[in-house]
Amino acid sequence: MPRRNLLSWTVHIRYLSKAASSSSLRQAQGPCRNDKLGIYLKVGFMSKTLICFVVALASLAAQAQTDPEGHQWWQHAVFYEIYPRSFADSNNDGVGDLNGIRSKLDYLKRLGVDAIWISPCYPSPQVDFGYDISDYQNIDPMYGNMKDFDALSTEAKRHGIRIIMDYVPNHTSDKHPWFIDSSSSKNSAHRDWYIWRDGKNGGAPNNWNALFGGSAWKLDSKTNQYYYHFFYPEQPDLNWRNPAVKNAMFDVTRWWYGHGVSGFRLDAVDTLFEDPNLHDNPVKEGKNVYGDPNEENKYNDRLPEVHDILRDLRKVADEHNGVLIGETWTNNIEELKRYYGLNHDEVQLPMNFMFCMVNKLSAPDFRKQIALAESSGGWPTYVISNHDIVRSYDRYGDGNHNDRIAKLMAGLYLTLRGTPIMYYGEELGMKTTPPTRREDVKDPIGKLGWPKEKGRDGERTPMQWNASVNAGFSQVKPWLPVPPTYKTHNVASEAANPDSVLVFYKKLLALRHNNPALLDGNYVPLNEDDPNVISYLRQYKDRAVLVALNMSTTAQEVKFDLAKYGITTGKVTPLLTSGTIPGKTSQLVLPPYAVYIGEIK
Ligand code: GLC
Repeated sequence: MPRRNLLSWTVHIRYLSKAASSSSLRQAQGPCRNDKLGIYLKVGFMSKTLICFVVALASLAAQAQTDPEGHQWWQHAVFYEIYPRSFADSNNDGVGDLNGIRSKLDYLKRLGVDAIWISPCYPSPQVDFGYDISDYQNIDPMYGNMKDFDALSTEAKRHGIRIIMDYVPNHTSDKHPWFIDSSSSKNSAHRDWYIWRDGKNGGAPNNWNALFGGSAWKLDSKTNQYYYHFFYPEQPDLNWRNPAVKNAMFDVTRWWYGHGVSGFRLDAVDTLFEDPNLHDNPVKEGKNVYGDPNEENKYNDRLPEVHDILRDLRKVADEHNGVLIGETWTNNIEELKRYYGLNHDEVQLPMNFMFCMVNKLSAPDFRKQIALAESSGGWPTYVISNHDIVRSYDRYGDGNHNDRIAKLMAGLYLTLRGTPIMYYGEELGMKTTPPTRREDVKDPIGKLGWPKEKGRDGERTPMQWNASVNAGFSQVKPWLPVPPTYKTHNVASEAANPDSVLVFYKKLLALRHNNPALLDGNYVPLNEDDPNVISYLRQYKDRAVLVALNMSTTAQEVKFDLAKYGITTGKVTPLLTSGTIPGKTSQLVLPPYAVYIGEIK
């Protein structure tokens, strides 16, 4: 997950860069085919076929669970990413935990969250803060234990909130028993579970760089071979060409489905496979923040084999009505389309980082990205912040109107057709607060890349619950400092302020859940030449919602000609606004950064 300087913001970018039917039909036909009784001929072919057909239909209905529009649960759900170290600390050790999350389910429900994605909380040496896993089927004691997980799962279900686990298939920790065995000898049972190669010309097997600095190969003195790691050396890559790896890793997902989870966020799927012939990557001009030559990840990123795995992983998900969310870093819409699967049989929700990386308030740029996402044929997935990128509050904020701009961004991605994935604290206007001294940095890439790369601590600071000590996150000093803005931007204060970012989010999420046009309506762009205001309709049957967002620093007057969309009424009723606005469809005056969402009747 490299960072790139875009328009003077430091932004992190990674790698620079299906249908239920077949599997459920197969399952449903099973009992009919395996019928042991020799009554087949007596029952007759027709009735046998009919029974199979009815069973298949029932099974499909049970598994797909679509609404009358054919939408599945994850198409209407609002997802919310929780970075567990930083959400709520129930046992006062300075690090968040599962019981902390459980204690905040009421808050999440009231906010309008339907599913939480928990960043890795498995046993881990914490080199990459949980993305280096030493046991996929347990909970790290720092976060609790499996009993706590099951309690969270039960309570979440009671709240109508689903749980999505973070699935890290690309690599394990070097402390995982598989790797310990793999590195023990060239003949070990798990040797081929990782990627081991002899060196070349007295050095590494090829020129591949690790994303987190230095060569992607580490020499292991015991067996005198190199192993491959796309990220830190403590994160050796699994060898997905070995069927045993695939089986073991697929069983991990089955096990968690058994514990009630509703799907997975797939970490770093782009890099599951590498060229077996280890061709050198093309070298580009210049050096990266770690001082390594820039290179194009031609031979170790987005290899076609990843799609075979995703298709099979989707079959497992379909058996459990689960969703797969992809950490899919793509450079163009064709690459994103590919992640949905040629037959929509891979990832249901591949995150669209091209939308996320529009790093300026630009109506034309967002309009373009939305049009591309709409053209993909898949269900769009919008994200504006996460644990790897500078928070949207800072990327779009101008320093003076950040709260208004935070509402503007919410007004955009929460009213589009598709599924939004929020990041904890975004609903408060939490600010990215990077360390100011190298010795305070926790994220290893910040230590290595300092001062150009300060690491990701800034976007992972403790959740701001109230204005008391440590922002109500913990009674002891938290693992990362609480940003000074906690005094004004916290749940308790904002809940009591009708003009806060939090109250705006709550109203918007409530609207999103209850308005059929916002749930199911088509996206119809309006005034496509307007350089300042992005506006569109969400149209569903005889209902339409008009959204207009002023992305500029000055007031804008906008006129709409809606007759061509079959809308002749001149009346629009405001549903939610930030700023003062009259109520006519033909004309609106939008103050700087204003949001207007109105229903056309
Ligand atoms: C993903 C995670 C990031 C992690 C990396 C390596 O990009 O989002 O936080 O460092 O994978 O696992």
